[in-house]
Amino acid sequence: MAAPAAHPTETISWWREAVIYQVYPRSFADSGRDGEGDLRGVTDRLPYLVSLGVDALWLCPFYPSPQVDGGYDVSDYCDVDPRYGTLADLDALLAAAHAGGLRVIIDLVPNHCSDRHPWFTAAVAAGRGSPERARFHFRDGRGTDGAEPPTNWRSVFGGPAWTRVREPDGSPGQWYFHLFAPEQPDFDWGNPEVLAEFERILRFWLDRGVDGFRIDVSDALIKDTTWPDTADGSPVIPKGDDGGPHPIYRAFRRVLDAYPGERAAVIETGAPDDVVALFLRPDEMHLAFSFRFLKAGWSAPAARAAIEDTLAANARVGAPATWVTDNHDTPRSVTRYAADTALAGAYVPDAVAGAHLDLARGTRRARAMAVLLLSLPGAAFVYAGQELGLPNVDDLPDAVLQDPVFVRTGGEVRGRDGCRVPLPWSGDAPPFGFTADDAAPWLPMPPAWRDLTVAAQDCDPASMLALYRRLLALRRSEPSLRTGTVTWLDAGPDAVVIRRESEGGRALLVVVAMGEEPVPLPAGEVLLASTPGPLDGVLPPDSAAVLAVAS
Ligand code: BGC
Repeated sequence: MAAPAAHPTETISWWREAVIYQVYPRSFADSGRDGEGDLRGVTDRLPYLVSLGVDALWLCPFYPSPQVDGGYDVSDYCDVDPRYGTLADLDALLAAAHAGGLRVIIDLVPNHCSDRHPWFTAAVAAGRGSPERARFHFRDGRGTDGAEPPTNWRSVFGGPAWTRVREPDGSPGQWYFHLFAPEQPDFDWGNPEVLAEFERILRFWLDRGVDGFRIDVSDALIKDTTWPDTADGSPVIPKGDDGGPHPIYRAFRRVLDAYPGERAAVIETGAPDDVVALFLRPDEMHLAFSFRFLKAGWSAPAARAAIEDTLAANARVGAPATWVTDNHDTPRSVTRYAADTALAGAYVPDAVAGAHLDLARGTRRARAMAVLLLSLPGAAFVYAGQELGLPNVDDLPDAVLQDPVFVRTGGEVRGRDGCRVPLPWSGDAPPFGFTADDAAPWLPMPPAWRDLTVAAQDCDPASMLALYRRLLALRRSEPSLRTGTVTWLDAGPDAVVIRRESEGGRALLVVVAMGEEPVPLPAGEVLLASTPGPLDGVLPPDSAAVLAVAS
């Protein structure tokens, strides 16, 4: 194994206020000619991320995988899929990122693996009652000849959450549980072998120098294995102290804490705030996405409630909040905010399909939301392309769609490919520098993105990219944007006005105009505004500003 990459050392608890940039490797940059992004492509573009001003990156799964669910179906947890490169490429990426002052967290997928994972193929081959099957949830079916699934639970991707196997002798056999696609069998975390294996996997990557993990579907590792039928087929997943997955996260924390440099983990859970906070106790994980903030959409009361409740719940366990508006699972926010306010918070794919979309409005709002996102205390995530103001691509032809949701719902839900279209870097026509000019990107890129490439935005002070750079620089220079207190000033139902103060930082006001009317600006020095041009004492609708005010 290569020597671990040098580790950045300057900041303690870096994760508490980090801005972490999410890279979907398949869509970021292709260093080859196959139309799919790869790890070398990421390494080549690190100077872009350094100049953007983020603190860290999160790499979505790059592991060997049949790619049934965009790599969230892992067949080997300790290697790199040849389509993305090699372990040596990953080591080189880590070394280059650390040299540039960027930390790197990687995706850990502990709920399920691929049905091609050697543990699962061995389990199918080994038959009923074997120790191999005990690493997964195999059960006999109900009804005549066990032909009915063990429960009525439904999979998140549509269809039943159970699939029947053939036994080694060819007879119809047991059923196994999968919260997602049939090609993603769930591990049985009640089996201590599973924890031991994941501790080994964590150490494998920590030894290589990764700075932490984003933990996929982290709240769902434990199922109610009395397998009760439910009224609507929803799986029963204990999340609290009574039978939930907390001992697993305490074990993970012990592994992380044994390494220098504050290795940290962010968990993915859509649970209510008080349940999320349980995962953030000092001996569990470090950060948890606030999906409430994402789902608040373009609504001042919803944003306020999400911010206040998240901060209050996290404060009870001493954890920072983690703000996010975009990721690889939800329509891009420019498009969500382009719809009317009610739809702007919709998290599910397809929510905005058929709605009237005003992309200019969506872009103005996304600019304003960037100001709020990066002005709240705690960590924040930026999804690749968000800093370019990319819209969702909602007219991809059926033939190119790859999300298992599309197939498993019989085409009823088109899925998440629209937010995963490769990034436009330069040039006037697809593939916009993402891959070789004569190669086809794995998802077609809209010709209209010629105005949204990195190169097109680079020197334009009015661009979304320029706004993100200014915002990230301001956040670095103003401690009150990263940490400290949030005080709400009354500004009516259509505006967010918060006062931000921190020890050692100056007092700031963040104002976001979320209604139809302009918002009068309080006295103060405007440090940054989401709209180009002078403000004349009022903030136009769909915009935001940061002001320095008297302490
Ligand atoms: C990931 C999705 C994935 C699902 C199943 C989610 O948390 O973000 O992209 O489809 O987990 O692994």
